[in-house]
Amino acid sequence: METMVSTSTMERPQAGGAGGEAQAWEETKACEAVARDRVGSEAMVRLCGVTKSYRTARGELRVFDGLDVEIGSGEMVAIVGRSGSGKSTLLHLLGALDRPSSGRIYCASTLVTDLSARDAARFRNERIGYVWQFHYLLPEFTAEENVAMPLMARGVERRRAMAEAGEWLERVELGDRRGHRPGEMSGGEQQRVALARALVTKPQLLLADEPTGDLDEATAEMVFGWMKELHREQGLTSLLVTHNLELAGRCARVLRLEGGRIMEAARHDSQP
Ligand SMILES: Nc1ncnc2c1ncn2[C@@H]1O[C@H](COP(=O)(O)OP(=O)(O)OP(=O)(O)O)[C@@H](O)[C@H]1O
Ligand SMILES: [Mg+2]
Repeated sequence: METMVSTSTMERPQAGGAGGEAQAWEETKACEAVARDRVGSEAMVRLCGVTKSYRTARGELRVFDGLDVEIGSGEMVAIVGRSGSGKSTLLHLLGALDRPSSGRIYCASTLVTDLSARDAARFRNERIGYVWQFHYLLPEFTAEENVAMPLMARGVERRRAMAEAGEWLERVELGDRRGHRPGEMSGGEQQRVALARALVTKPQLLLADEPTGDLDEATAEMVFGWMKELHREQGLTSLLVTHNLELAGRCARVLRLEGGRIMEAARHDSQP
C-alpha cells in the first residue's frame, strides 16, 4: 500500500525558496503545535484556517469563514447546525470530495488539501467510510455485491471480496439477506448494508451525513446503536452529521456550525 502525503513528510523549504512556501510551512508547524497541545495526541482530523466559498449567479456565497478544529483519534463527534450551515460541505472537504478555498485539512495522517484527484480517490478508498442519508446502494446488485464493491474497486479478487462482504453482513445481522436486492429490504436494513459497505475496507474515519434522517424514530435509534457499537469495536473515529439533537447528545462531543464558524457545543468525558 502506497503511503499518502503525510504531515511528517513535510520538510522545511530551503532558505531562499519561495516566500509563500516558507510561510505555509511556518503556519503548518504552528497549527500542529497548537493541535498537539490541545488534544494531547495526534489528531485524526485537523482543520487550519479553512474557508470555503462558492461562486453563484448572485455573487460569492461564503460558507466557512475560517474553521480551526481538531478531532482526536477514537472520538465520536456529532456535527449539528441549521440547514445550509455547511455540514455536508464539511464532510465533503474531509473526505477529499471537494477542496476548501483556503486553509489546510489533515485527515487520517494525510494533508488532504494537497492530494491529486487520483490520490484523493485512493485516500477515500483506504481511509474513509461514508454513510449518507440515502443509502445509495446500487439497486440491481445484491446486498453482498454492494458491500463487496469497495474491495473490488481496490483490486481484491471477487471471491474473496464476496466472502468478506458476507462476513460483514453477518456482523450487522443481515447474513440471511445477502442475496437480496436493496428494494427487497427495509430502510433500516438498507442503512445497515450501507454501514457494512462503509466499513468493509477497514477505514480509520467514518463520515456519516444524516444516516438516520430518512428513518422513523425507532429505526433511527437502531441504526445509531449499530454505529456506536461498530465505532467502539472497530476503533473508528466517527463524525455524525445529524438534525436529531437527542442522538447528537449521546455522542462524546458535539460541534455546531453557525455563521461560517465551528464551535464546541458539548463535550462529555466518557461516552454515554
Ligand atoms: N456546489 C455548490 N454551489 C453553490 N452553493 C453550494 C454548493 N454546494 C453547497 N452550496 C451552498 O453551501 C451552503 C452549505 O450547504 P450544505 O449542503 O453543506 O448545508 P447543510 O448544512 O448540509 O444543509 P442540510 O442540513 O440542509 O443538509 C448552502 O447555502 C448551499 O446552498
Ligand atoms: Mg447536508
